[in-house]
Amino acid sequence: MNKTVVYGLGAVAVAAIAVLVLQPADISGPMGHSMTPPDTTSIAQGDPIATVKVPATLSADAQIGKRGFDAKCAQCHGKNAAGQNGVAPPLVHKIYEPSHHSDVAFALAAKNGVRAHHWKFGNMPPVKGLTDSDVKYIARYVRELQRENGIN
Ligand code: HEC
Repeated sequence: MNKTVVYGLGAVAVAAIAVLVLQPADISGPMGHSMTPPDTTSIAQGDPIATVKVPATLSADAQIGKRGFDAKCAQCHGKNAAGQNGVAPPLVHKIYEPSHHSDVAFALAAKNGVRAHHWKFGNMPPVKGLTDSDVKYIARYVRELQRENGIN
C-alpha cells in the first residue's frame, strides 16, 4: 500500500471517530426522525428520560387527558410523559412532535399497540378500556406538555 493511501485511510478513520464522538449525548435535544434508538445508557433503569417542564395551566381538554394519561399510560411513559428508562420513552420528545407522530398515531398506539422501533424497550401492548375520544384528550395533554418544552 502506498503512503498516500495509508494517510488517506487514516484521515477517513479520524473523521469517522470525530463523527462518533461528536454525536450529541443529550437525547432531549433536537435529533430528527432517526431510527437509531437514542442512547439512554447513562440513565438509571426506571428513571425519567426527559426533563419535562410542566405548564402552569392546562386547557380543560388537556386536564381530562391528564386523567386518562395518569390512569393508562403513566405506569410506562412516566409522570408528565417524561419516560422511564428501560420501560417506555418520553412522549415529550422531538421524535413525537406533531409532524412526526400525529394524533392518529396516538389513537393507533393505544388501539393496536406499537412494535418497538425507536427505542429498545420492547413493544407497547394495546391499552384496553379507552375510546378514541379518550385518546384524543390524552394527545391534547401530551401536546400541551410538548409545547411547554419547545416541541411543536
Ligand atoms: C406497558 C407499557 C406501555 C403503556 C401502558 C403505554 N405505552 Fe406507549 N409505548 C410503550 C413503548 C415501550 C413504546 C416505544 C415503542 C418504540 O420502540 O418505538 C411506546 C410508544 C408509544 C407511542 C409512539 C408510537 C409510534 O408510532 O412510534 C405513543 C404515541 C404512545 N406510546 C402512546 C401511549 C399512550 C397514549 C398510552 C396510554 C393510553 C401508552 N402509550 C401506554 C409502552 C407503553
